[in-house]
Amino acid sequence: MTTVFPADKFKSLRTPFYYYDIGLLNETLNAICSETEKYANCHIHYAVKANANQRILSIIAKRGLGADCVSGGEILAAVKAGFPSEKIVFAGVGKADWEIRTALDNNIFCFNVESVPELEAINIQAAQKGKVAPVALRINPEVDAHTHQHITTGKKENKFGINIDQLSDVLNVLKNQPSVKLTGIHFHIGSQITDMTPFQHLCERAAEIVQFIEKEGIFLENINFGGGLGIDYEHPENQLIPNFGEYFETFFRHFPARHGQQLHFEPGRSVVGQCGSLISNVLYVKEGSFKKFVILDAGFTELIRPALYDAYHKIENLTSALSPEEYDVVGPICESSDCFAIDLKMNKTRRNDLIALRSAGAYGEIMASQYNCRPLPDAFFSDEL
Ligand code: LLP
Repeated sequence: MTTVFPADKFKSLRTPFYYYDIGLLNETLNAICSETEKYANCHIHYAVKANANQRILSIIAKRGLGADCVSGGEILAAVKAGFPSEKIVFAGVGKADWEIRTALDNNIFCFNVESVPELEAINIQAAQKGKVAPVALRINPEVDAHTHQHITTGKKENKFGINIDQLSDVLNVLKNQPSVKLTGIHFHIGSQITDMTPFQHLCERAAEIVQFIEKEGIFLENINFGGGLGIDYEHPENQLIPNFGEYFETFFRHFPARHGQQLHFEPGRSVVGQCGSLISNVLYVKEGSFKKFVILDAGFTELIRPALYDAYHKIENLTSALSPEEYDVVGPICESSDCFAIDLKMNKTRRNDLIALRSAGAYGEIMASQYNCRPLPDAFFSDEL
């Protein structure tokens, strides 16, 4: 399977825009569903933060997945797109009272709680509504995901989760919070993880933690392993659909789930990453004394990952079949970090060629900004053009 770009149809659309291959999204969802159906106790909550485009959300919701939200806005977007609220989990180190109330009003599945003051805040809000809030403790498992420092979350110095040495104290605090009920534990060690070893370590650590909590006489119904499965940015065509089989098998093989225990996952990037591309028009080819620059009408306002994380996105010229030349590919924003590639070999490029920045379906459109008073990008879908 490959993504086909209808460049002739693109010509009439205002660039830059996001283009979503809906066939690929559906195939990816097929792969997730067929892998997870193998396990009766497996539950998927799509991480809305990766892409909250309403059309994308509604396609995912129709397949029966739940949602992982990190703000009140995401909860509202997920509910609007058709995710059942009883499959919504709510994470994040800083939940505002209105967001907690929004979650309670929608009777979500679970709050993933990251600290004692948060636990107390949820207890107060739930008591005011006469409800008991289901909570999972997010525990920092101190497992190094060996990924980019800005997207690693499970090391002891990260701001996320409750440290293991504080777990006893937190369990004691819980005893005095009658409007919250502990139903599980939650982890997330980082993102763009392509080697299964860190996930295996997470399983081992999770098993120890479950044992520790069981000694307190508590049965944990839900173990949530977060997200993190990576995608192939270098060669998207080699693996348009991530290896979900290997990923889920790692957990079901290495984590000794108790009878009745449910395993939850929060994939984001692996669900939507490969189906989206940023399409941009070449404004100018500028021949400097040292370099040739391809200047796009897309910049870090539309795709911030290269500027923020040094991330690589494959770049293709959709309208040139000429022999390759070497370019720096840059955007129009007045900052030198607005650069997508240095010394890139790409088919000889001219003004008004169309360029695709691949693998941009996750953390692309949703992280766009209006810096320089630029309009937010449109989105178009393969089945609607
Ligand atoms: N669950 C939790 C608690 C998370 O913090 C995240 C991502 C996910 C699930 C989904 O992880 P995924 O399956 O997508 O790896 N903007 C960055 C990525 C930030 C990820 C933040 N947390 C990027 O563009 O690479």
